[in-house]
Amino acid sequence: MMKLYLIDWLSLSLKLLHVIAGIAWIGASFYFNWLENKLNRVNNRDGIAGHLWAVHGGGFYYLEKYKKYPQALPEPLHWFKWEAYFTWISGFLLLSVIYYFNATTYLLASDSSISSVYGILSSLLGLLLFWVIYDLLCKSKVVNKSLIFIGIIFVIISISAYLYNTIFNPRAVYMQIGAMIGTVMVANVFFVIIPVQKKLVAACENSTEVSKELGLMGYTRSRHNNYFTLPVLFMMISGHYPMIYSGDYGWLVLIAVVGILVMIRHYFNLRGVGQAKNSLIAIITVSVLALIYALAPSQSKVQSQEAVSIAQVQEIIEKHCVSCHASVPSSEVFAVAPNGFMVETKEQIIAHKNQIYQQAVLSKIMPLGNTTNMTEEEREKLRVWAEAE
Ligand code: HEC
Repeated sequence: MMKLYLIDWLSLSLKLLHVIAGIAWIGASFYFNWLENKLNRVNNRDGIAGHLWAVHGGGFYYLEKYKKYPQALPEPLHWFKWEAYFTWISGFLLLSVIYYFNATTYLLASDSSISSVYGILSSLLGLLLFWVIYDLLCKSKVVNKSLIFIGIIFVIISISAYLYNTIFNPRAVYMQIGAMIGTVMVANVFFVIIPVQKKLVAACENSTEVSKELGLMGYTRSRHNNYFTLPVLFMMISGHYPMIYSGDYGWLVLIAVVGILVMIRHYFNLRGVGQAKNSLIAIITVSVLALIYALAPSQSKVQSQEAVSIAQVQEIIEKHCVSCHASVPSSEVFAVAPNGFMVETKEQIIAHKNQIYQQAVLSKIMPLGNTTNMTEEEREKLRVWAEAE
């Protein structure tokens, strides 16, 4: 019990750190992106590419961007890198604490044919492989052909989602793809963007030329990161919305969502430089509506079903839910009822009818990992009970 309690604190602290570091990182990257778009590029001093005035938090700010670099290396010179590194480190630890330590419950599909160890290894392999392939593509000529490049990345993500879907539970598939893309983003910072900046600083110190390719290399990677951002953020919060990932085609939904979010990001990038495309808004709107329609729960097929009594329901709940959702769970994985959700008494069951319906009938993500082997007949009984007035 004590151990589980402490693990919860660990997980809570890591999640908080992850969110804070992530906000600092993505916030700064949004800000610099915005800055680049809004720089005033006329009437600048010699050697200045653009300037900008801003008012924020009770003060006026003035900022200039150099075409190359200043005459002497300024002190102190601020870097933005620890935000990215801490986001990854805390994210990876979270992934381990939540998904790897309890792989049978959180990572693997309930009917998965592989063991926890293979599950964890295939997750790690995905993180590594996606970066290696992406990096090779960036170093090849393909990177200059935007559409082909995007197409290949999209296909890799799709194949990964499909393959992971055969061994992981649907929520873990989303987390895995999110972690893969997030890892590429941080690796871009660590292996490319920061080294490029170091060379820039060295050039400033030695007053040497900076090659065009060098700047372009950093620019390309941070541009990719810009497009990866929304999909990653989405994957990280999708876990709270079973309607997204839990259907039979959760992995297809994932691919559609990535596509839509990249289009949204693209729209804002175009808008940032004054080239907003209304046709893109139309495509995005239609896609979102189509997705909402496609994921809508189907109306019950069987109408004249025999009524299910609350006693029958309680029996099912006791068998499949109470090991976790009780004031003192008997499950070895949880010290307290997950999310404070308890269904030990008839009153509690009736009060939580909608939630039971949502999690065990519509999305079928409960019982978690279906470790108790809940059958379709049992779900059907819950459905009939919940849909009856
Ligand atoms: C192995 C343990 C386990 C079992 C068994 C289990 N659950 Fe859960 N349940 C969880 C965990 C963990 C969460 C929290 C998931 C999260 O944070 O996304 C949860 C969350 C929920 C929630 C969301 C609560 C909220 O409002 O946030 C509902 C509803 C729920 N479970 C219902 C059920 C039902 C109904 C059953 C039985 C059919 C069941 N659970 C069986 C572990 C379990």
